[in-house]
Amino acid sequence: AAEPIRVVVTGAAGQIAYSLLYMIARGEVFGKEQSLILHLLDIPPMAGVLEGVVMELSDCALPLLRKVVPTTDPLEGFKDVSAAFLVGAMPRKEGMERKDLLSANVKIFKVQGEALDKVAKKDVKVLVVGNPANTNALVCANYAPSIPRENFSAMTRLDQNRAAAQIASKFGVPISNVSNLIIWGNHSSTQYPDASHGKILIDNEWKNIVDAVGDNSYLEGPFVETVQKRGAAVISARKMSSAMSAAKAACDHMHDWWHGTAPGKFVSMGVFSDGSYGSPKDVVFSFPVEIKNKQWKIVENLSISNFGRSKLDLTGKELEEEKKEAMSVLDSN
Ligand code: NAI
Repeated sequence: AAEPIRVVVTGAAGQIAYSLLYMIARGEVFGKEQSLILHLLDIPPMAGVLEGVVMELSDCALPLLRKVVPTTDPLEGFKDVSAAFLVGAMPRKEGMERKDLLSANVKIFKVQGEALDKVAKKDVKVLVVGNPANTNALVCANYAPSIPRENFSAMTRLDQNRAAAQIASKFGVPISNVSNLIIWGNHSSTQYPDASHGKILIDNEWKNIVDAVGDNSYLEGPFVETVQKRGAAVISARKMSSAMSAAKAACDHMHDWWHGTAPGKFVSMGVFSDGSYGSPKDVVFSFPVEIKNKQWKIVENLSISNFGRSKLDLTGKELEEEKKEAMSVLDSN
């Protein structure tokens, strides 16, 4: 069997990590043959909780898990890692302005970028889950100049999975019968869930979702709104934010990055924009990508409707503003 690889999860004492660590250690991301050394990074006040998570991981009796390294030191947490799940972030608190949240997180991701730059493997794959995920990924990459910026991504896979689940349930088909849904732009309420290139398997035949639905009023109306507001709906029902589904999405994202996408299929991830589809350059923008040999490539030449154009412009504008705010926080420090 292959040598163990080191994988770090930050925010390891938090809710998403509680599901995510188990899924990773089960072999659901890097494969059932790949043994692992899991690094658990959190902040000093959570060190005690981390110890409990370490006990539970041990008690899960997982054959692939060779060692667990709990730490509150980023330089130890990121040392020699091949994959990094950056889940930990400052949560939004009552009365906190968006700007306050952004400035707290920008600082966290600066520190983590610098630590990755110093001690991680140069081919490390970094997935940012902690919000604002796209801009955090941008900041993190900027402070890790020795790691190619293609290796930094932000998670919009939960939104993609939510979109696919909506379509599958509308047609009463298994989720595996739905593919090629796209999330464009920011992981925020301005994201654009786009089903116009999506496919669905009904009666043994792959069809365009648009044809199966019949008209655009659902896909441009309730579908988009339901996906955009799903996170809020879960919070209002559960009194806590999505965690199990966020962990599953993080696994899906990293799994596909590691193992590639099937021919003709694409997935969405937030990556450095080259200006494709009229998006602003040099922000982390969610695009449809195909993946081969651990390299993603933006899918080209998809048609964009007028409706889609306005949505892409809106989410792109928000990302440019976030970037500006993030840079001004960093400049003033
Ligand atoms: P949580 O509050 O349960 O856990 C977060 C953990 O991160 C805490 O243990 C905290 O101590 C830790 N943390 C804070 N600062 C840290 C630092 N500098 N280094 C290491 N650890 C640090 O939160 P939860 O529910 O696990 O969510 C984590 C993040 O994921 C939040 O920012 C949330 O908004 C985001 N999220 C993103 C989604 C996406 O689709 N991109 C979906 C769901 C959540």
